[in-house]
Amino acid sequence: MKILAIETSCDETGIAILSSDSRKFGEPINLLSNLVASQVETHRRWGGVVPNLARREHQRNLIPLLTKSLQEALIIKPCRRWKLSLREKEIIHQVLSREPQLAKKLVKFLKRWNKPSIDLLAITTGPGLEPALWTGANLALALSQIWQVPFVPVNHVEAHIIANWLAEPKPQDWPMMALVVSGGHTQLAFMKDPNSYQIIGRTRDDAAGECFDKTARVLDLGYPGGPIISGLATQWREINKSNAPEKIRKISLPRPMINHPGYDFSFSGLKTAVLYQHRSYSDQLKRSPFYKLKMAAEIEDAINDVLIKKTINAASQYQAKTILIGGGVAANKSLRRRLATGAFSNNFKFFAPSVTLSTDNAAMIALTGLKYLKKASLSDTIKVNANLNL
Ligand code: KG4
Ligand code: ZN
Repeated sequence: MKILAIETSCDETGIAILSSDSRKFGEPINLLSNLVASQVETHRRWGGVVPNLARREHQRNLIPLLTKSLQEALIIKPCRRWKLSLREKEIIHQVLSREPQLAKKLVKFLKRWNKPSIDLLAITTGPGLEPALWTGANLALALSQIWQVPFVPVNHVEAHIIANWLAEPKPQDWPMMALVVSGGHTQLAFMKDPNSYQIIGRTRDDAAGECFDKTARVLDLGYPGGPIISGLATQWREINKSNAPEKIRKISLPRPMINHPGYDFSFSGLKTAVLYQHRSYSDQLKRSPFYKLKMAAEIEDAINDVLIKKTINAASQYQAKTILIGGGVAANKSLRRRLATGAFSNNFKFFAPSVTLSTDNAAMIALTGLKYLKKASLSDTIKVNANLNL
């Protein structure tokens, strides 16, 4: 069977096509196409994601990306139609009344291409930015009705965990402890078996990715902060530091809640500490080429120290056999390396999706759709939930 997935929960438009001969989750799969259109340039000058701009970009990107993805997967044939059927027009009118730009592009697409050989649609319905979620959900609903292909709603946070099953070897030793770290979430989920998620820790304020982004803004490093801070931190670790002023070498930041009992996180204090320290240093010190490198390294280490210690402790206490990580911050090389080392030295199996499958993508949505194949329906309504829980 072939699954077409659509992901529009935040600032990346994702379309993927996955094929599964067995129709069973956990069995071998083939990723036929996995495309992401990034909106980083659009949001950069605002220093963060603007929900209505995200929606506008999704409306603009979805159909071109869908066309490219279906072509890449070799499952679509061209046709030339001058008109859509009355039924098709009605569906588009009803479902995409609030997305006129997307509706126009869909009409053109349907006139040019035959129905592709797709058996299931998988669509992110939350959590995320509501206007962004609606755009993808409405397109999925319209395609489901026009092509008469069932759809299955997918939880974006669960999909970040499921991304660990996209590659070989797949995790298989239960129970598992999953750390989800993204721009909107920081959660530790205990998975007794494949169908249970017990949230044993979450952030009380900012998410780990949000902390990377906000501290980068304080230091005027640009957006998104995670990859930029990570790049500077790597430079700091690799350069010769003997010429760095002692005051810079001694910069140190708190590790919030690291020794706190339980598995909750808190990152807003770290952002405040960066702000206060940054304000307290002289302009001369801040002009040193070493300053931003050391600050970045300290921010990265502070966040990762807390994430790693809590995850290993949680896995030990819950007697997990496997540790999983997922979400945009899982793309952080230092976190991946250090968590892998910590996990192996404590006798846990450790898995992380590839760097490109850690950040937002639709391949993980397609695979989660396969997991919930039984929930697929040809319903004529769809709901999104910006605050959907695991
Ligand atoms: O999962 P994701 O792509 O989108 C959400 O669901 O939020 O995560 C985006 C977050 C951003 O905060 C971004 O700064 C962070 O992931 N991120 C990173 C890295 N790459 C992306 N954080 C640290 N190091 C990275 N290499
Ligand atoms: Zn995400």
